[in-house]
Amino acid sequence: MSVLPTLDQKPDYVNRMFSAIAGRYDLLNRVMTFGLDQSWRRLAVRYVQSATSGGRRALDVATGTGDFLPLLHRAMPTAQVVGVDFCLPMMQAGLSKVDATEGTGAYVGGDALRLPFPDETFDAITTGFGMRNVVDLAGALREMQRVTKPGGRLACLEVARPDSALLRFGHRFYFTRVVPLIGALLGGNAEAYTYLPQSAEQFPPPDQLRNLLKAAGWSNVRYQLLGLGAVAVHIAEK
Ligand SMILES: C[S@@+](CC[C@H](N)C(=O)[O-])C[C@H]1O[C@@H](n2cnc3c(N)ncnc32)[C@H](O)[C@@H]1O
Repeated sequence: MSVLPTLDQKPDYVNRMFSAIAGRYDLLNRVMTFGLDQSWRRLAVRYVQSATSGGRRALDVATGTGDFLPLLHRAMPTAQVVGVDFCLPMMQAGLSKVDATEGTGAYVGGDALRLPFPDETFDAITTGFGMRNVVDLAGALREMQRVTKPGGRLACLEVARPDSALLRFGHRFYFTRVVPLIGALLGGNAEAYTYLPQSAEQFPPPDQLRNLLKAAGWSNVRYQLLGLGAVAVHIAEK
């Protein structure tokens, strides 16, 4: 049964869903990905890191509990690191991640479709597992491009689907059967972890996302598949 909301209900639905699971979000991520999610984020950070060689500013869009913030800080200790999200309970659950940035990090409440920053503010942008949740994907890709300085970089992590039929079958089984079960047992919220595979089904495959990034004004767009093809990191420059 589909739990996907209609487009006009989606922002409220997503906000409420993440508010409900905020306290358990990190634990569930680690369990569901066999602890691999942080290595994917580290890879994304490595790509954008050289754009901030002089220190400066990095932004994590749809930051959630802020997993990217300490990683960005460790990779570029003199950069200001900002996480933006419209779900305050997620950021509250991740306050310790801002503490880990030793005074260089902050959360800002805001919508990925209307980022509360002037044009050309950031040298580096990361976003992880957030783009699947926005109502207007093309608009969010354009917004990130708008707030990036010329020469700045983007790394976008999102779910994908393996190519080979066998892996695809295993992935589908895991995602649609096992993940909701883990969500119910550990997170007390089967619906949120049913939404996850269903929203992933609707998300454009990596080639299409690459084209959307180009159409949003990003250059030198490419991607790498991770986790046997279950995740893709797209990287791009302005
Ligand atoms: C799956 S979590 C990802 C959190 C984090 N980026 C990570 O790597 O784990 C998705 C996040 O996107 C946020 N989000 C969804 N739509 C948004 C929007 N339009 N503007 C800001 N944040 C949004 C949600 O509130 C949630 O915290």
